[in-house]
Amino acid sequence: MHFHILTLFPEMVLHGLGTSIIGRAMRDGFLTVDARNIRDYTTEKHGHVDDYPYGGGAGMLMQADPIMRSYRALCEETGRKPKVIYTTPQGRLFDQNAAKELAKEEELVILCGHYEGVDERALELLEAECYSIGDYVLTGGELPAMVMVDAISRMVPGVLSNKESGETESFEGSLLEYPQYTRPEIYEGLRVPEILLSGDHAKVDRWRRDQSLLRTMERRPDLFEKAELTKEDRKFLKAFRESREDAGGPKNACISDGPVLN
Ligand code: ADE
Repeated sequence: MHFHILTLFPEMVLHGLGTSIIGRAMRDGFLTVDARNIRDYTTEKHGHVDDYPYGGGAGMLMQADPIMRSYRALCEETGRKPKVIYTTPQGRLFDQNAAKELAKEEELVILCGHYEGVDERALELLEAECYSIGDYVLTGGELPAMVMVDAISRMVPGVLSNKESGETESFEGSLLEYPQYTRPEIYEGLRVPEILLSGDHAKVDRWRRDQSLLRTMERRPDLFEKAELTKEDRKFLKAFRESREDAGGPKNACISDGPVLN
């Protein structure tokens, strides 16, 4: 998979992504990431890439021309016209499903905004797909671009080793992951749940699934909207709810009622 980042701060992106698992995947040839400095494409004599917004208002906007020139240079060099993503709080929420979808692309361009954003015409000409990494405003699009490259790359075959493979992790099947433990068996008086030491794989699997259900109920009940629950899941949740009601209502006010069970 090939990523091209159009940015005013290429070193930030390359330093951020060049380490750890993504860095290893780049060195092993599963990914390429190049970062192109939009400022290199300005024809303005002082090297400016931004200007005041028409109609007034606070801040500056990135101009369309250096952005378009940088993209067109990339297309000319590669002989291709890859899909463009623009990172903005106004975009579609970038979640695990979006990461999976985008991982099917062979090549992606991510345009990072700065200042108050970019001239709308650049987005129109690039037919950019807009993505947000969450409901907060960052100072630029570089961190969102890095977040997206990381999450998309994990889905690319070969990037994760078998050990790191993310088949049973959070958001798979729209549930959060169960709690995990490693050695020692007792740490500062806290014991690893007995069942994990039992060697009974079927029981361990059921316990983990139940923990995923509880954790999702406690922390992200909204995820149940998309979750596929089995008969056993429903049975567990029903029993949990009944035991809570028997005990006189929610033990922990943070735990939601969970999904609607028919
Ligand atoms: N640029 C600034 N804030 C952002 C956000 N939350 N998501 C994506 N791009 C952004």
